[in-house]
Amino acid sequence: MKIDSKKYPLPSRFRHHSAANLYLPLSELKKVPDYYPTLIEQVDWNNYFANGKAPDALDIGCGKGKFLLDFAELNPNLNILGLELRKGPVEWLNQIIKGENLPNVAVLWYSVVNGLDFIEPETISKVFYLFPDPWFKKKHFKRRAFSEKFLKDINRILKKDGIFFIATDVSDINYYHLEILDSTDYFHYEIVNNDTDWQIPRTNKEIFCLGKNIEYYRIKVYKNL
Ligand SMILES: C[S@@+](CC[C@H](N)C(=O)[O-])C[C@H]1O[C@@H](n2cnc3c(N)ncnc32)[C@H](O)[C@@H]1O
Repeated sequence: MKIDSKKYPLPSRFRHHSAANLYLPLSELKKVPDYYPTLIEQVDWNNYFANGKAPDALDIGCGKGKFLLDFAELNPNLNILGLELRKGPVEWLNQIIKGENLPNVAVLWYSVVNGLDFIEPETISKVFYLFPDPWFKKKHFKRRAFSEKFLKDINRILKKDGIFFIATDVSDINYYHLEILDSTDYFHYEIVNNDTDWQIPRTNKEIFCLGKNIEYYRIKVYKNL
């Protein structure tokens, strides 16, 4: 989507709280910092999508949202919901969504480690988990959102013929994703090595990787029925 950058100037730098507690579930926090995303238990989709319907697609960790906006433009019959931990990008994307009157895209300030209970079972046709924060160090592993519990949630919300798209530029994280996928029996998957089998718009991070010749890894995940 072509956005007039003069109308929506990108803040020179989004504040990024790297405090560990931002990446932990609310239930594990003794004290809740004011920069922690609000819990969401129920959503009235009339407030977010012009057709008043629930989302068809989810972009988890949408960041600055190039993918989110492009997907919405290319799929006018699908509602796409972005979930993002950092308030800055959420506020910026909301300005664009409101300013351009975009009917089928919304973004919520939310940390996915608190679960996806506000999404009804078997309603989502595509889930995107594209270039998550890597958290390399072992002591930081618990900040990663990708877990068995997360996969249980994805399995619950995905339609029978739904697809879960995963990408990362970190080889160890790719193995970590495959290991967790293998440790549950919810899904089978396909490793994607070419653009022809991917067919979704590029994300901000993917464009960055392509510009710097950084290798990245893609997986398409399907439900075991
Ligand atoms: C490396 S960026 C990638 C953004 C985008 N998907 C892309 O490919 O350009 C990872 C994003 O995930 C967000 N994120 C990390 N953990 C999250 C969580 N638990 N819930 C929601 N968003 C999260 C981060 O704030 C960041 O914007």
